[in-house]
Amino acid sequence: MSLTNFWLLMTSKDPFSIDTITGITNKDKKGLISAEIYSLKDLIVRGAINVSEATNIPLDTCKKICGLARIRLEELGIVSRPFMNPMYKELDRISLGSETLNALLGGRGLHTEAITEIFGESNSGKTQLCHTLCVMVQLDKHNGGLAGKALYIDTESTFTPERITSIADARGLDRTQAINNILLAKAMSSTEQEHCLERASSIMNQHKVIKLLVIDSVTGLYRGEYIGRTALSERQQRLYRHMLMLKRFSEIYRVAVVVTNQVNQSPKEFPGPFPGPVGGNVMAHASKYRIRLRQFGDRRIAALTHSPYLPEKQVCFIISVGGVYGVPNPEPLE
Ligand SMILES: Nc1ncnc2c1ncn2[C@@H]1O[C@H](COP(=O)(O)OP(=O)(O)OP(=O)(O)O)[C@@H](O)[C@H]1O
Ligand SMILES: [Mg+2]
Repeated sequence: MSLTNFWLLMTSKDPFSIDTITGITNKDKKGLISAEIYSLKDLIVRGAINVSEATNIPLDTCKKICGLARIRLEELGIVSRPFMNPMYKELDRISLGSETLNALLGGRGLHTEAITEIFGESNSGKTQLCHTLCVMVQLDKHNGGLAGKALYIDTESTFTPERITSIADARGLDRTQAINNILLAKAMSSTEQEHCLERASSIMNQHKVIKLLVIDSVTGLYRGEYIGRTALSERQQRLYRHMLMLKRFSEIYRVAVVVTNQVNQSPKEFPGPFPGPVGGNVMAHASKYRIRLRQFGDRRIAALTHSPYLPEKQVCFIISVGGVYGVPNPEPLE
């Protein structure tokens, strides 16, 4: 569908169309559409600074537009009004591929509306877990999925369709359909990676069944482009903006976001024998759940190192032709 047709369809039918807010001039509306910003949700996910940069509309006007979008989303029940009583709701989950791994995140697996960071050394299984999740999300709810599609931003050129087909075979899914339910974007630079996320936000209205966004890896390109101490502050600022947009993406579209992260050589925040994840405090604050993967002989260990309400825990897993599977813990683990 062309962008113009999509826009016409949206304005006539979609309660989230930017056409539903009054107070935007036609000129500004045109500017938003030419930057592929069609929905109120997209405005909130991007935030005023990004919208201004993408459209050349003055920042003050963008703040006003985003404020109006926020009010509409409050009316539509997508975001809560300020100072209301907190509501308990059971979040959708995506199985990590086995009961043992699901137990790491309190049972039932990956949380939607949150960022989960998977970090670890090369070969620890990060990409394999991401591939498995892309298949698991497609299963129906009774089998641990959400009957959904996945978006995959590949920054390391390690996405492998063959792995998806073998995991789909093992999990009882049609292999062609499994591939077709994954929308892949390859990013070659951090700027491209940021554009991929903006594009992802634009297309969420067209593909309402997307339930998972993967970025493998989220830090690699920033790490490669900003070398040395003097570049660190700028890198961290850009990474922080990117992570904030991802956080809003997960909450506004109610999807699970999984990012992988590399590790540093010298352990700082994670003292002990293990190297710490790249990105320092930026990554620590942005990720709601952090899982460290390690190779341990012929097995691997997944450890939940950070969660706002779950205790630290570790489980064993293996990588096989059908993806990742939890296995009983050998003693001792360390
Ligand atoms: N079909 C398969 N069956 C069993 N093991 C596999 C299969 N495919 C890949 N692996 C194993 O997965 C491991 C690589 O895992 P993965 O690519 O997820 O690492 P990673 O943590 O993403 O590393 P990097 O940081 O370098 O990207 C290798 O040990 C490889 O043998
Ligand atoms: Mg990898």
